[in-house]
Amino acid sequence: MAELRVRIGALELKNPILSASGTFGYGLEFSGMMDIRKIGAFCTKGLSLKPRAGNQMPRICETPGGMINSIGLENVGIDAFETEKMPAIRKTGATVIANFFGDTEADYIEAARRLAAMDGVHALEMNVSCPNVDKGGIEFGGDPAFLEKLTAAVKKAAAGKTLIVKLSPNVADIRPFASAVENGGGDAISAINTLKGMSIDVKTRRPKIKRVFGGLSGPAIKPVALKMVYECVKTVKIPVIGIGGIASLDDVLEFLIAGASAVQVGTMNFVEPSICQRLAEELNVYCDREGIARVSALVGTLRTG
Ligand SMILES: Cc1cc2nc3c(=O)[nH]c(=O)nc-3n(C[C@H](O)[C@H](O)[C@H](O)COP(=O)(O)O)c2cc1C
Repeated sequence: MAELRVRIGALELKNPILSASGTFGYGLEFSGMMDIRKIGAFCTKGLSLKPRAGNQMPRICETPGGMINSIGLENVGIDAFETEKMPAIRKTGATVIANFFGDTEADYIEAARRLAAMDGVHALEMNVSCPNVDKGGIEFGGDPAFLEKLTAAVKKAAAGKTLIVKLSPNVADIRPFASAVENGGGDAISAINTLKGMSIDVKTRRPKIKRVFGGLSGPAIKPVALKMVYECVKTVKIPVIGIGGIASLDDVLEFLIAGASAVQVGTMNFVEPSICQRLAEELNVYCDREGIARVSALVGTLRTG
């Protein structure tokens, strides 16, 4: 049996296949359709100190090879997450990465402090990259100097729990942001969040998304994601978690070969709710067949030149 375990900061994952925030609810919605303990971890929907209703509908539409969403970080809030969701999540035995965000720096710090102290939360993923909100999104991840300061403050509040910082692709160059996370003491980077996009209904001449723009995700974004993950890997020494359009074992392998230590699957959970479990099983079979004793031996094996 191949060794699929990977380490992200202080967090040991049983395999490198994770489900991405916002596409897997609070885990419970999927636990009846798959064995949630068989995947490396799941990332919760983005959590904030106060509950949020999200944006007005329509806020999702399908596009070739993907979708656009403008959910606007709708979530139950950290209090309800703790009292209404966490007891049932703990019973599943899943590895839980709490994805979170704030409207202010103080909100980010307090959210991290609360989640890090919560029984059953194994690691934190800080979202500084949502394209669908006026506050609490990319404005926090849009300036490397500020991102470094925020990462340092949040890492302190995380009290020893692994802190992953999730980067936006909606920047001219992702590398200074990757460095900012590393310099701020972040344990890992996850990339990418959605790409800004737009779609129009030609019959009505109205945008298909109420807010006009949304975030594009799914297989259509994979080449962009892969390139950005590769750039991050070349820039920092901390682990990078690859996200963007993953739909098959080959997609997983591409991200690992590019240097990602683990991957997250997002949009494809809507198409095939048990895809993460399937990919973890397929990765195991692949490693055995190819004589790869440890999956980590694949990481960063891209041949160039
Ligand atoms: C409907 C939807 C909601 C999302 N919500 C969040 C969120 O709350 N926090 C976050 O960090 N990313 C969120 N994302 C981004 C995904 O986690 C992921 O980074 C992105 O979709 C790219 O991966 P994919 O192409 O596999 O979907 C969301 C994506 C979708 C499609």
